[in-house]
Amino acid sequence: MVAFNKFFTTVFLAIAYASVSNAAPWAQHSKYATHSRRELDNGLQLELYHPESTYTTFGEGLELGANMRGGDLKSRTVGFVRQRLGIDEKSVTFKTGYSSESGAYGYARQYHDGIPFANAVANVAFNGNKVIAFGSSFVKPKKVAPKKPTISLETAISSAERTLNGKHNGQTPSIEYFVKADGTAALSHVIQIQNDEAFTWYEAFVDAHTGELLSVTDFVNKATYHVLPITKMTVVEGLETLENPHHKDASPKGWHDDGTKVHNATIGNNVVAFKGSQSATTAASGEDAFVYNFDITAEPTDGTNLEVARTNAFYMLNMIHDISYIYGFTQEAYNFEHSHGDKDSKGSGDRVLMSVQDRGGMNNAAFATPPDGQSGKCYMYLWNMSKLKRDGSLENDVIVHEMTHGITNRMTGGGTGRCLQTSEAGGMGEGWGDAFANWSEQKDATIKDFRLGTYVYKEEGIRDYPYSTDSAKNPLKYSDVKKRRGVHDIGVVWANMLHNVYAALVGEYGFADPKIAHYDASGKEGNVIYMNLFIKALPIQPCNPTFAQARDAWLQADEVNYKGIHKCTVWKAFASRGLGVKADKYVDDFSVPEECQAPPTQEPETPETETPETETPETETPEVETPENPETPEEST
Ligand SMILES: *[C@@H]1O[C@H](CO)[C@@H](O)[C@H](O)[C@H]1NC(C)=O
Ligand SMILES: *[C@@H]1O[C@H](CO)[C@@H](O)[C@H](O)[C@H]1NC(C)=O
Ligand SMILES: *[C@@H]1O[C@H](CO)[C@@H](O)[C@H](O)[C@H]1NC(C)=O
Ligand SMILES: [Zn+2]
Repeated sequence: MVAFNKFFTTVFLAIAYASVSNAAPWAQHSKYATHSRRELDNGLQLELYHPESTYTTFGEGLELGANMRGGDLKSRTVGFVRQRLGIDEKSVTFKTGYSSESGAYGYARQYHDGIPFANAVANVAFNGNKVIAFGSSFVKPKKVAPKKPTISLETAISSAERTLNGKHNGQTPSIEYFVKADGTAALSHVIQIQNDEAFTWYEAFVDAHTGELLSVTDFVNKATYHVLPITKMTVVEGLETLENPHHKDASPKGWHDDGTKVHNATIGNNVVAFKGSQSATTAASGEDAFVYNFDITAEPTDGTNLEVARTNAFYMLNMIHDISYIYGFTQEAYNFEHSHGDKDSKGSGDRVLMSVQDRGGMNNAAFATPPDGQSGKCYMYLWNMSKLKRDGSLENDVIVHEMTHGITNRMTGGGTGRCLQTSEAGGMGEGWGDAFANWSEQKDATIKDFRLGTYVYKEEGIRDYPYSTDSAKNPLKYSDVKKRRGVHDIGVVWANMLHNVYAALVGEYGFADPKIAHYDASGKEGNVIYMNLFIKALPIQPCNPTFAQARDAWLQADEVNYKGIHKCTVWKAFASRGLGVKADKYVDDFSVPEECQAPPTQEPETPETETPETETPETETPEVETPENPETPEEST
């Protein structure tokens, strides 16, 4: 279709990387630096204390003493902390650290009599043999509690479970000193308490001599978003207010902490959603909340509609980050993140820049995927196909389609962004995007036809056929590839094949609720198997794959991850659309391997799923035309 002709998903963009400012994330207030108040879900109010941090930066850098120069990060960190604070060897240990191109960072904690302090830590930043910054919350306690607990661990656990309304999650508890606001150091049992139903996960510090709850760490980053849930397609279906949609494994620090700073806006570790300049983000509407009103009778730029658009774009890209992470698009697999947390920082600094209501285009959307380590950039434009303009950021399938370009371009060929360049591979790139959008919007096992772009474009969608298992509605087969012009049209053939694979898998293995399927790749249901094969085939396919090679990668992913048990289901679905065993050079073949030809022992369970049409007569005649130069590049950019 004309409308989508301007995608330049594979164009390499050199994106100037704006550095993140280090300003304090919120207003300074006398107690803000040392205290926080927390109201737990059960109404319990806690005032928490963290000893004050001192912090010094050293400009050009402070030369290390000769005795420390050339030592490893651990000895330099410990040596510097000791020297600076005038403390002995037993009072400090190295906790963790890492080196990057811009320097090395060491983290230490205070000890007393062999027991660590929970809230007394130090950090040293090095540039070569120079120290460039030093922070410390080490304390000189007025009084230190005896090191042997008088309250047993069992008692502490049951008291913490009661107070925090959860269960100890089995994580080994520890004994740590805890500095209190009065300057004394209490001994504490540190215990993790979790409650999956209430979505709480705390670390409790229980005084090991008095049984008092001294403090809690809240591992759950709370946030509320008024958005279009990922299973809905367009804003017409209605926004909802969602709480804590982030996933704890995929985004352990939530969506607003980028490892350097906690942002009170649509910016974080995975995504910056902005309009115009990267600092033009949407600010929180209240404490941890992004709740803005959407007026469908107004222009996308009016009232708070832009805030809703940025919030939804931010939510959606983060959702795809988390879902694809669960299925394998991780740091090692060249994903898009600002900081990699505890993991190898190679390829970090590349969260997705989401340009909402981008002024550079109209009636379109695009994604640029430079190599790992450089931010991907997503462009969402306004559409003028109806009386009021419409915003692509409020149609989830358009967003998912674009973000999938980032996933497939990064995962094929090892993070270079260079491996979906041929028409055929680029066509599949488009197809994957539609197919992922289609997958993420599924609510139940019913196999329905799918159309992309029904809100921004028109009811019939933006592609020339709906995605359907019904050949009357979508007749496209492998041989059609050669007749089609441009990556988007080729993509429709591929996406429809995947649609048929999906329908076959769901027909045979059922459907897991999206709330589970989006976050757990271990399920046995058809939609989970499908997404596993989808993602896990990408890193094992060749650079610039053909349809047949990409199909083989799906089969191989099934072999590796499922011992090939879905092999025949996958083969039959591809073969039903002409990509059978002998399919080659855009000539259809409907055959499946011999072992898949045995008559099915069981009727397929889902009646709506069409039996694959392996016997279409007209296709028996081999097509002799040579493919019309499928290598012609179509993209204008
Ligand atoms: C974030 O912004 C909101 C709205 O301005 C405000 O109410 C809230 O206190 C801010 N939170 C922080 C931590 O600054
Ligand atoms: C819609 O936008 C396109 C591209 O900017 C422009 O050529 C066209 O005239 C616009 N149509 C309307 C109805 O505004
Ligand atoms: C696309 O969506 C329809 C329902 O809207 C579903 O029947 C179909 O199987 C989906 N295809 C894929 C590839 O997810
Ligand atoms: Zn595309």
